[in-house]
Amino acid sequence: MEFGVWTKGLPTLSVDCLVLGVFEEARLGAQGGSVDAACAGRLRKLLARGDFSGRAGETLLVADLPGITASHVLLIGMGQAKQLQRRSWRKAWSAAASALMRTRIASCAVALDRPDAKELDDYYLGRAVAELTGAALYRINDLKTARKPPPPALKRVLVGPVRRAAAAERGLTHGDAVASAQSVQRDLANLPGNICTPTYLAEQARALAKRHPSLKVRVLDEAAIRREKMGCLLAVSQGSHQPPRFIVLEHQAGAKKLPPPIVLVGKGVTFDSGGISLKDPPGMDEMKFDMSGAAAVIAALTLAAQLRLPLHLIGLIAAVENMPGGRAVKPGDIVTSASGQTVEILNTDAEGRLILSDALHYARRFHPAAVIDIATLTGACVVALGHHHSGVMGNDQALLRELLEAGQRADDRCWQLPLTEEYAEQLKSNFADFANVGGRDGGAITAATFLGKFTQGLRWAHLDIAGTAYQSGAAKGSTARPTPLLADFLLKRAAR
Ligand code: BES
Ligand code: MN
Ligand code: ZN
Repeated sequence: MEFGVWTKGLPTLSVDCLVLGVFEEARLGAQGGSVDAACAGRLRKLLARGDFSGRAGETLLVADLPGITASHVLLIGMGQAKQLQRRSWRKAWSAAASALMRTRIASCAVALDRPDAKELDDYYLGRAVAELTGAALYRINDLKTARKPPPPALKRVLVGPVRRAAAAERGLTHGDAVASAQSVQRDLANLPGNICTPTYLAEQARALAKRHPSLKVRVLDEAAIRREKMGCLLAVSQGSHQPPRFIVLEHQAGAKKLPPPIVLVGKGVTFDSGGISLKDPPGMDEMKFDMSGAAAVIAALTLAAQLRLPLHLIGLIAAVENMPGGRAVKPGDIVTSASGQTVEILNTDAEGRLILSDALHYARRFHPAAVIDIATLTGACVVALGHHHSGVMGNDQALLRELLEAGQRADDRCWQLPLTEEYAEQLKSNFADFANVGGRDGGAITAATFLGKFTQGLRWAHLDIAGTAYQSGAAKGSTARPTPLLADFLLKRAAR
């Protein structure tokens, strides 16, 4: 996709399609006015017929208007003018992009009215357009044998009107990179568990590092993981025939003396059967998405590498399969984590926190500026927040605030849950330092409390993406969240 900025008048722009906004009660937006004048009022006449109300998300494609160069005009419902804000604007362009993908239109100029610059400045306009165009272009990587439909014709998207073309162009470049990172995450997460194994994830990380000079990769195999004394990770893995992998990806841009890194830690359970504490059959297939955190880490490093962000960034991925084999860890088993702390495994289905605990401990050696783990960790988080917000917890309020704000800007929001000391009571064990589960109540928080036992002294945040990383039902598939949030966080850090 080629992105750019349009500058001259809309009626004489040589593109296939002008994308114009219409507010509720069929009120043509400001940009539409100039087009309407050029085509002798045909647009207003059309709207006066009452076929198009301007409701949010409504679309109408009109062809061959006189007096304008473009062959098509796409009208997009923008909802109430007074209520126009960043999110509704994004929805409008998403609807437009999806509608365009169903046509043979190859180039378009986006001329949707915008909320004020505080909500949507030139940079953000570019970023949102490129990101959402990429999302609309995404085709699921299915393994269906039928011939694939031809790819959409759209090749060129111009945004405007802008005051600062350079800012919009920077936004377009960033948004384009966010979109490719999202595709990386989606493609990985959508793969079935028999293809996307721990070994496969490691191969993908290797391949990625080969493509980008700023990236280095190291993969620990089972023997190396044993040398690191990652007893919790190995306990989860031991019931599976798939060997575990611990993946270390590093992005460093130029600088000789490296600043303390940001470390991203991803849960990479390529299939979570629950282990001996076996899950119920309905929906168990969705546990192939239990490596979405790992996919988000790979996506974030892809973005940093593609944009050559001036950051020192490390991605750690604990990749295992959680299976109930004959050698599987059993309820009541006690294991020693890499940190030296002992854990009584009361429920083998609480495996994410086990593998993350060893990964978080591994992060210490980098003396990180911040550690963020990303995990489809608890069903309890889905009960608490549903599918709209990821859960966020941690031990550093400034870091948490950064993530909350990044989520707002990226329209990929998270919500903070409390992580106070009382919850630790629930993890008490008579036989080990603590147990890996703390009962049903506050399950998302007790899981984070468990992780907190391994992050003392680190600036740490935990994103629970169990409710947001993928969709069920007819639209089953990865959502590529929280890649937009992480991208915004990294872009902001890179700019500071
Ligand atoms: N991968 C699951 C969490 C999950 C649940 C993700 C639903 C997405 C949707 C995790 O490993 C798990 O099984 N957690 C248990 C923890 C419990 C045993 C304390 C859960 O949430 O039920
Ligand atoms: Mn589980
Ligand atoms: Zn899991």
